Amino acid sequence: MKSEPAAAPTAASADYLGDLISPISGGRVPRHVAVIMDGNGRWATQRGLPRAAGHRAGTENIRRVIERFADHGVQYLTLYAFSTENWNRPEKEVRLLIRLLRYFIRRETNNLHKNGIKLRMLGHIETLPEWLQKQVAEAIALTGENQRMTLNICFSYGGRDDILMAVQAMMREETGASDITEETISRHLSTAGAPDPDLLIRTGGDMRISNFLLWQAAYAELYFTDTFWPDFGREDTDIALAEYGRRKRKFGGLLPEDLEAFGKDAAGR
Ligand code: FPP
Repeated sequence: MKSEPAAAPTAASADYLGDLISPISGGRVPRHVAVIMDGNGRWATQRGLPRAAGHRAGTENIRRVIERFADHGVQYLTLYAFSTENWNRPEKEVRLLIRLLRYFIRRETNNLHKNGIKLRMLGHIETLPEWLQKQVAEAIALTGENQRMTLNICFSYGGRDDILMAVQAMMREETGASDITEETISRHLSTAGAPDPDLLIRTGGDMRISNFLLWQAAYAELYFTDTFWPDFGREDTDIALAEYGRRKRKFGGLLPEDLEAFGKDAAGR
């Protein structure tokens, strides 16, 4: 008699993975996507333009990518706009990136709001000029009740710094050593309340994490593409999501088909 396949614990069920079904493609989509938007400088250099043009084009690109991810049903999108290490770039470039953040907030807040997108900022916002902090706070307040998707912009953000801040906060709260769990740490990170990223995309050809969401991305699927960020459009978004849909996520466990094969091994078949 053919035995029933071994009951899988939980792996591979859509609930366990936290996956959703895309309204566009019908495929599995990640709940949370994080993006390292790399390659602005090289995009500009290839065209004989100054690096600033690459950052401008990269900023323009953010809008179409946000829309595409939202259309697919992604609930959280986290963009790495400026790392704690980016302060080491020439002052002129740092000033430009801050100006582009202002431009983005001014130009996109109403669009985000109209499209049901909630804006959050992760990182050291206090390092921004006060007038910009105020604009950011207003945009966050305006969009705060939106439900369709949460957009996290990381500015002056570092993964190690995020963990350090969490540890310091727990120390200040006098959390006992035995009360510190993975869950407590997650609750003290800047991403508190959001699910961990399921998919981490890096454009621009390099294959590293660059101090981005170090704790949170422990089980993220990594997707690297040579495409420079300003060229990463709707189609690239679809391709990345389709690739995610093909990945088998195990979280260190086994998939139902692995369990079935395991059962067969044990029975000597
Ligand atoms: C990496 O390109 C990109 C950044 C350091 C910043 C990403 C910023 C943007 C897309 C625009 C700003 C966005 C907001 C929301 C204000 P790179 O300069 O390292 O490129 P390269 O590796 O080709 O030199």
